[in-house]
Amino acid sequence: MNSKVFSLKRFLSRRNFHCNFARSIAVLGIETSCDDTGCAIVDSKGTILGECLNSQQQVHINHGGIIPPIAKELHEQHIERVVRETLSSSKIVIDDLNAIAATVKPGLPMSLRVGMTHGKLLAKEYNKPFIPIHHMEAHALTIRMIEKVEFPFLVLLVSGGHCLLNLVQDVDKFLLLGQSIDDAPGEAFDKFARRMKLHMLKEYSTMSGGRAVETAASKGDPNAFVFPMALAHYKDCNFSVAGLKNTARKHIIRLEKEHEVEPDQMVPQMEDLCASFQLAITKHLCHRLQRAMEYITLKKYMPPDKEKTLVVSGGVACNKFIRGCLGQVCDEMGYRLLAPPPHLCTDNGAMIAWNGMERWNTGKGIIDPSSPEFDEVDVQGRCILGEDMTEDVVLAGIKCKWIKLKY
Ligand code: KG4
Ligand code: ZN
Repeated sequence: MNSKVFSLKRFLSRRNFHCNFARSIAVLGIETSCDDTGCAIVDSKGTILGECLNSQQQVHINHGGIIPPIAKELHEQHIERVVRETLSSSKIVIDDLNAIAATVKPGLPMSLRVGMTHGKLLAKEYNKPFIPIHHMEAHALTIRMIEKVEFPFLVLLVSGGHCLLNLVQDVDKFLLLGQSIDDAPGEAFDKFARRMKLHMLKEYSTMSGGRAVETAASKGDPNAFVFPMALAHYKDCNFSVAGLKNTARKHIIRLEKEHEVEPDQMVPQMEDLCASFQLAITKHLCHRLQRAMEYITLKKYMPPDKEKTLVVSGGVACNKFIRGCLGQVCDEMGYRLLAPPPHLCTDNGAMIAWNGMERWNTGKGIIDPSSPEFDEVDVQGRCILGEDMTEDVVLAGIKCKWIKLKY
């Protein structure tokens, strides 16, 4: 790049950086932690000024799961276009941005690196503050883009890669009450759907595993197949779906044998099995949630004079059956249930931009592109969200009388 042009650009963006109080604040966010290349620009009110999302879902459905090098390659192919289209749809030029945010953790390291590198390049070139984002923090705070939800609130994040319960005390202050100790529920739905061969039916062929199971389950009997209660003897709020997945596999094998099912045929009672599996996962989520709420009451973590809020988010939170049952737990425990609309529950650039905005507003974790810290920012495949309270939950020894779900 011509050095004169570059210095003029730097001068203009610096000037902008100092004069931005005169106009609305705008943060650009980049998301590439898994299989979606997302970008968006949001203002301080949470309005999405521009956005673009390239989903790799269909490619991964065809491969039977996410293959990290393929995900990385697709991010590389699309990142520039996605950012360009976000900017052009927003009618904002990079110089007008206040900061650039990008997901750096947790997720597939190869995928994360594509978005983070692109974000850092833009930050360096245009002299914009860079804000590294924790993907799960972004999911947790998304609701504040849409509604006035004050701290503290409880959040249940259920996606293809994660399952966790956190008490959100501030933009960067979280208490981790429980998390998944094996597969995440979304991943279990995806694997179960694959084993059930749902993708072979035209109706389900373009749906994520979870959505396919929900759709099939809506036509089935949830009491048709027996599933165990996961982690029944553990007085914590952790999640485990490996046992449920294994039980589902045994049901499928038995049905296949009994009915001599051919490789290109569906198992009989497919919809009943989907409904029973969905119910087993739902009950598990409800039980862990109930214990978390009882723990919060015991520890007086919620101010008594304020409305208690549960926020559910992540791809699995799109599931209406699950939401309905979580709603029943909320009603019984005196919480209101909030969930972002489906397109903001799944991975997207707006949640990253909004998390950047929350941090910009509070001055937390903002990195100057000319500081030594900037060069050190790197991706992290694994990273828990907040202070780990999972042992403290066990020590509280909470025995729950499970709320009876109506379905
Ligand atoms: O949050 P997300 O978009 O990506 C991450 O995993 O971070 O979640 C994707 C997951 C997939 O496993 C998908 O099967 C699941 O969310 N999912 C659903 C539904 N829609 C998407 N699971 C259950 N019911 C749904 N309706
Ligand atoms: Zn996610």
